[in-house]
Amino acid sequence: MRFGHFDDSAREYVIERPDTPLPWFNYLGTDGYFGLISNTAGGYSFYKDARLRRISRYRYNNVPFDFGGRYIYVRDNDSGEFWSPSWQPVRIPVDDYSCRHGMGYTIIGSARSGIRTDTRYFVPPGENLEIWDLTVVNQRQTTAGLSLFGAIEFALWDAQDDMTNFQRNFNTGEVEVEGSVIYHKTEYRERRDHFAFFACSEATAGFDTQREAFLGPYRGWDDPAAVGSGATTDSIAHGWSPIGAHQVKLSLQPGETKRVVFLLGYAENPTEEKFDPAGSTVINKRRVTPVIDEYSSVDRVDAAFSALAQEWDRLLGLFQVKTPDVAANRMINIWNAYQNMVTFNLSRSASFYESGVGRGLGFRDSNQDLLGFVHMAPARARQRVLDLAATQLADGGAFHQYQPLTKRGNDTVGSNFNDDPLWLVLAVVAYVRETGDESILDEPVVYENAPGTEQPLLDHLVRSLEFTLGRLGPNGLPLIGRADWNDCLNLNCFSDEPGESFQTTTSKDGKTAESVMIAGLFCAAAADMVDLARHIGRLDLAGVYAAARTAMLETIEGPGWDGEWFVRAYDDFGHKVGSAECDEGKIFIESQGWSILGGAGLSNGMAQKALDSVARHLATDHGIVVNQPAFTSYHLELGEITTYPPGYKENASIFCHSNPWIMVAETKVGNGDRAFDYYRRICPAVREEISEVHRAEPYVYAQTIAGRDAPTHGEAKNSWLTGTAAWNYVAITQAILGIRPGFDGLEIQPVLPTSWAGYTATRVFRGVTYEISVSRSTPGTSNSLTVAGRAVESTTIPMPGPGVERVTVAVAL
Ligand code: BGC
Ligand code: NOJ
Repeated sequence: MRFGHFDDSAREYVIERPDTPLPWFNYLGTDGYFGLISNTAGGYSFYKDARLRRISRYRYNNVPFDFGGRYIYVRDNDSGEFWSPSWQPVRIPVDDYSCRHGMGYTIIGSARSGIRTDTRYFVPPGENLEIWDLTVVNQRQTTAGLSLFGAIEFALWDAQDDMTNFQRNFNTGEVEVEGSVIYHKTEYRERRDHFAFFACSEATAGFDTQREAFLGPYRGWDDPAAVGSGATTDSIAHGWSPIGAHQVKLSLQPGETKRVVFLLGYAENPTEEKFDPAGSTVINKRRVTPVIDEYSSVDRVDAAFSALAQEWDRLLGLFQVKTPDVAANRMINIWNAYQNMVTFNLSRSASFYESGVGRGLGFRDSNQDLLGFVHMAPARARQRVLDLAATQLADGGAFHQYQPLTKRGNDTVGSNFNDDPLWLVLAVVAYVRETGDESILDEPVVYENAPGTEQPLLDHLVRSLEFTLGRLGPNGLPLIGRADWNDCLNLNCFSDEPGESFQTTTSKDGKTAESVMIAGLFCAAAADMVDLARHIGRLDLAGVYAAARTAMLETIEGPGWDGEWFVRAYDDFGHKVGSAECDEGKIFIESQGWSILGGAGLSNGMAQKALDSVARHLATDHGIVVNQPAFTSYHLELGEITTYPPGYKENASIFCHSNPWIMVAETKVGNGDRAFDYYRRICPAVREEISEVHRAEPYVYAQTIAGRDAPTHGEAKNSWLTGTAAWNYVAITQAILGIRPGFDGLEIQPVLPTSWAGYTATRVFRGVTYEISVSRSTPGTSNSLTVAGRAVESTTIPMPGPGVERVTVAVAL
């Protein structure tokens, strides 16, 4: 069952009814100003940091689930009836409802009683504000007397404090109102140099800034007293809960259309120019007024919207494909690329499932997100890599995350994840392969944000690899530390205190428990390092890491091999985890994927055997689960993984992030059919057909899909902010379609499903547009390349000479 449809030509998903199984949401903004918006206009906004600069308030874990947002009310002044064009919060039925989620914008439209409204929400490129561009049409035969209300609840900046510190916060709220603009200035009188504003393009009939005045005592956003009575009260908030609410009165002739623009924005003033007049506590509005005036014009709004669309034309135009699979096309050309931008921007900080207060930008997360994003904005990727590396510890280890506003590492959500530093190698090498910009390797970068500790970025990569090599356990495998990619495999935690965080508790010295997954990841990172070192003429480094990798591969194929698959880990007692000898958790996905991605088992049949075991034990119709059998009880020695009921999260759900590793591994053994079959099992656009089962958005990946041990098998949770986005993009574009950046040029090595006759693609690589056409005549995977009509000996297209902008490539399989 579907709740909407894809409109590929508009690059939109069109939701056809408001009561989707979960809020189906979208993001606004790509740089400093961000917002989340659901299909019923729920959500909130923030500037750069979802915790420290929260602009509007949202109550997580609310009832109904999605409540609080960018709410517009329409009131028929003749009948007194009112409703929400976005259905929520009033929830009176509306006709012809649609929500079009597009690239950086959302349009919600509906009609009731002959009044049609469509609201386009977006952030103009380069601005710190969002626009609610409302079009009202009177479809009646008679004149309509209407009141429109636009309303937002302000957050008192620090979202964590805003939700907890009421004894203070009920006293601090302050606003100013000037004409059609409400300014939210809580704490501006003291240390804040920033304020928010909520403006309306029209002369308003009234406003409210105190929540209780607008809603009325004992009433909620679903039934505001001011909307019911048809009159705002011009309240000025002192303490309690500042809001912005504007009332606009309209009289529309039959067929008449009117546009009203609301602006919600963020602004900063230099400290010494905060007040006007100086010495007062009145906001200096000289900088912000021109911006508000500018975007109060519908022509300017339309121009900004076109600029946004053009920016997405450019970004998506960098890589377009035409394959025989509609769902794959949709994901690659539009939605997966878009989700990559969002995960790159926000890491795991703010979604409808990540509250924006706990997690900043994760070290391993951001490095992986970059893999799917680097071709779209190489300059931003470069900066991100340098920011991440600057938080690295001098011993090569890493803080697990950093806050985007300060760019400093912190360990409040845990530390000592021994996989963390290796992802930096993958990210930097991906960046150099994509851009050819070797200069980044010489860039001086500090350790632990400490001035004076600068070393070339290349040194950071060396320390990352040495971090692993300096921490090997009894079997010669890497020590796991707190955990590896699987945050919940906490082999040194041994927590028996209820509520204690598995992400910060450590009870063991960490000298025994080992991870086969890190071993595989190390081999992949070392292989990247060897290629990089050869490319830049550092044969010394190439030699060292080639040898280290060979030794590690032997270890994986030795103590890391269980007979039918790769072992997952060794615990603190030296017992195997993920082995036929275990009662539960006999086989895990991560070590099968990463051992093979690192190169293990490819020449001796182990890889094939491991993948057959994955197919036999872990693959379900809804995707590949993390482990089998699921853990049914708590194991002190394994940690958080065993806290989840069977089939959820790290305990045997389909943890989507890890599925593409198996897809890539399948292509390494030449099995395009299986790789693509796995791709389709978790592909949101394929799962659209079963939206009543999947329940999350059909246009973006979710972190997990409940595994076969769960009663809700097939149900997705935690959409949007997941490494699944980048990795599926890598799997389908680089491994299955086989178009991958190399140091010396674009490589093409497809491993396609046998039923495909081929595909075509346009890929911009280092400023050159490649028109690629792949056709298959044999079932195998070997290929030959013809570039600009000439046969080429290798699978890499040599970089064309200067001035060449377009290259045609024919690939015969
Ligand atoms: C979750 C993990 C997450 C970790 C860190 C755990 O509760 O299961 O998926 O990465 O918390 O916040
Ligand atoms: C989510 C975290 O953001 C990611 O870093 C981790 O690898 C996965 N959970 C798996 O535990």
